[in-house]
Amino acid sequence: MSGKYEKLQQQFLCCYPVKKMAWSSVKLPLNWEDQKELIAATSGHPMNQRYPVRRSYLEAFVKQLMHLLREQEEIHDDIYSSLCGPLAEKTDNGSVSYAYKHYLLEPGAHITLRESNSFVSEGTTGLCTWEAALALGDYLLQHRDVVSGKNIVELGAGAGLLGILLKLPALKLKVGQVLLTDGSEPCVQLMRENIDLNFPNTPSEERPQAEQLSWDAVSDFPWQSRAETDLLLAADVIYDDSQFDALLGALDYFYKRRGNELETLLASTVRNVDTLHKFMTQLDIHGYKVTPCANVSACASHFCRDHTAAVQIISIRR
Ligand SMILES: C[S@@+](CC[C@H](N)C(=O)[O-])C[C@H]1O[C@@H](n2cnc3c(N)ncnc32)[C@H](O)[C@@H]1O
Repeated sequence: MSGKYEKLQQQFLCCYPVKKMAWSSVKLPLNWEDQKELIAATSGHPMNQRYPVRRSYLEAFVKQLMHLLREQEEIHDDIYSSLCGPLAEKTDNGSVSYAYKHYLLEPGAHITLRESNSFVSEGTTGLCTWEAALALGDYLLQHRDVVSGKNIVELGAGAGLLGILLKLPALKLKVGQVLLTDGSEPCVQLMRENIDLNFPNTPSEERPQAEQLSWDAVSDFPWQSRAETDLLLAADVIYDDSQFDALLGALDYFYKRRGNELETLLASTVRNVDTLHKFMTQLDIHGYKVTPCANVSACASHFCRDHTAAVQIISIRR
């Protein structure tokens, strides 16, 4: 394959918004071979054949493609038949449906995640990956020294993207232990599934680990059986001010354990300026020093992000 549709492929596999895809790479009229190549690069991709993206996304993609080709007389059969491919499964009771996303990062490095098709399900927002996690992932890939040699704990890790990224052998990030935590049991189950999916033959010490951890119960966790934490990560956890005390209590616990020799990287989508400001004020009251991290450059982005909402990444020290 020539790679003509590389961008569309990367965007399709991670369900990037259809309307914002790189359709300019489709030069019209699209001859028979190119139609075949485009479908092979997207819905026909082996990753999608094995772990399909959600049905509604595939339909929206095909609809947009047909719209683009509306003046053409001949439409390749593969475009129609792509709608008859494998379907992502539903849960038994049909209440939560899951599908897959594939994040192609660089040649030889990709992450496949099973994610919920809804933003909120099973009483948590964590069964899908949020923009702030993608932005923090980009930041870490652009500042590899920040994670090199560190034992890392993520709070509110959701579907597990960041920990999987950190341990991906092809990226050679040289991190120590990685522990993904979340207060929601379905999230922890999903993270474990996603870890199995991405590290099928990797010894457990070279994989990220996932454990249930609520912020108001950090002191009950068996930390003595783990390496000391050097770096905390958290993405999109500042949206509910009723959880601020618990989160600040958890931070306090970690910083005290390390005699304040600890850094937290916190990525937040700027939805509600007042909520973020309230948390920043609390950090200040608790004696933390906040430094905004350098912007994550869009052109060097490893993830497809649509940048509709600004994401702020800060470093927290005390
Ligand atoms: C918006 S999701 C973000 C998930 C992931 N970090 C991402 O950016 O894709 C927020 C996550 O924080 C977790 N969370 C919220 N309150 C929590 C608490 N008190 N203790 C532990 N986890 C919590 C939720 O279960 C959820 O997985």
